[in-house]
Amino acid sequence: MSRGPEIIRAVADMQAWSRGHREAGRRIGLVPTMGNLHEGHLSLARMAMSESDRVVVSLFVNPTQFGPGEDYESYPRSWDEDLAKLRDLGVHYVFAPTVEELYPAGDSTRVTVNWGQDVLCGATRPGHFDGVTTVVAKLFNATIPDLAFFGQKDAQQALIIRRMVRTLAFPLVLRLGETVREADGLAKSSRNAYLNAGDRAKAQTLNLALSAVGSALEMGER
Ligand code: PAF
Repeated sequence: MSRGPEIIRAVADMQAWSRGHREAGRRIGLVPTMGNLHEGHLSLARMAMSESDRVVVSLFVNPTQFGPGEDYESYPRSWDEDLAKLRDLGVHYVFAPTVEELYPAGDSTRVTVNWGQDVLCGATRPGHFDGVTTVVAKLFNATIPDLAFFGQKDAQQALIIRRMVRTLAFPLVLRLGETVREADGLAKSSRNAYLNAGDRAKAQTLNLALSAVGSALEMGER
């Protein structure tokens, strides 16, 4: 059995490992996550394993993307289980910095989003996407990936990050992985654990409705 991924906590150590691999001509794939890994994350990690020579999965619950009164403190954390899943996949590195490591004293700079951030999920979560782009930029700088893998499930996030990669000229290729779903069609998500039976039924209806609209569009409906 593999001994599991190397766990890296410091940005400087992560950069040193990544530079070493890049100099040796190896392609680095990054899968950014907030942990509590489910099949959606694992499918991205598998994609990364098949397209890269070394894979880094980051596990970091990012405080700046949670608004006041949101679930930062209670966000599900499952370190041991996450590591076991990544070991089974053969992932090479887990980058798991502390909050102080990614947001050091004197931290004063944010990546601000001014396209696509104030609709859909962002309409009720002011500042959320600034937190996401800021941490993703930090993760890119720490891991120096050739490829970065995100889920299509978070479609708004994926579009905003795609634009950030283009406008800030990050030298990497963004890869999007398909949404992985529960048997009843609900997209897998760490926060599904918050849904009661009623919410769950409603969430499923949303998926069915969107699928019906998609099929109608494909059939030429306008
Ligand atoms: O999609 C997520 O889990 C997070 O928003 C991300 C991209 C890891 C940034 O914290």
